[in-house]
Amino acid sequence: MEDCVVQHLDKISKDGSFTILQISDTHLFSRADDKLLGVKTADSFDAVLKAITKQNRDYEAILVTGDLSQDYTSESYRRFADMIIPLQKPVYWLPGNHDDGPLMRRIMPEFGISSARNIIIGDWQFVMLNTQVYSVPHGWILPDELNYLQECIISHPDKHTVICLHHNTFELGSAWLDQHELKNKEELLNVAYSNKNVKLILCGHVHQEHDFEKNGVRFISSPSTSIQFSLNSYNFSLDSIGPGWRYLTFYPNGEIKTEVHRLDKDLFVPDFKIGGY
Ligand SMILES: [Fe+2]
Repeated sequence: MEDCVVQHLDKISKDGSFTILQISDTHLFSRADDKLLGVKTADSFDAVLKAITKQNRDYEAILVTGDLSQDYTSESYRRFADMIIPLQKPVYWLPGNHDDGPLMRRIMPEFGISSARNIIIGDWQFVMLNTQVYSVPHGWILPDELNYLQECIISHPDKHTVICLHHNTFELGSAWLDQHELKNKEELLNVAYSNKNVKLILCGHVHQEHDFEKNGVRFISSPSTSIQFSLNSYNFSLDSIGPGWRYLTFYPNGEIKTEVHRLDKDLFVPDFKIGGY
């Protein structure tokens, strides 16, 4: 199948499980010193990467769920690649609303980063979807993407499926953020709910951690490596909680265990006076 890679497990654990690192919403700029709402995003990403390295955890690959860039520039993607490569793990990505997907597809291979969209690892497959509508914050999934997802599910009936995308497909209880969700989420959810192999929908975008289950599908979102948004806020609101990352461990029986880690909240404090994003 087009865009499909099979990644063999480095070390097969006794129980057949493996772990993935999720990184999201790095929001890097062409210039290292530029700030997003008061936070130097290159510095916060660097601190996250250093903390991950220090943890010395065993994981197979890195999934990056969009908004790698804040300014759509090739320099920001080169910065991302330069920073993530030292982790020495396979990296897979998808575009967010702040990204230039075609530009990423040109630049990432220069750094040996795959643009694969269907990744098979052990008993699982990960499908990386594009829900970007260029230069607007909300998402939309096109029929071609839904067809691609269905093709992946049909092609690998023996694999548990993780749908990865940037935009949230569930309401957060934050009115200002909910308007930026995947607008036609029902079309994606129909596919997810009607295929029992779909176990998880994993997203970024909301700069908040969520984890719940509905109709047999788990929904997980993850923190940004830069700024965080407050939970349950009607209007735009920044949170003082620290930048974060997530590990997800996948088991052959379809079970998923996950944990979020964060930097200390005093290290990268946003400018709370700024009233918009
Ligand atoms: Fe973002």
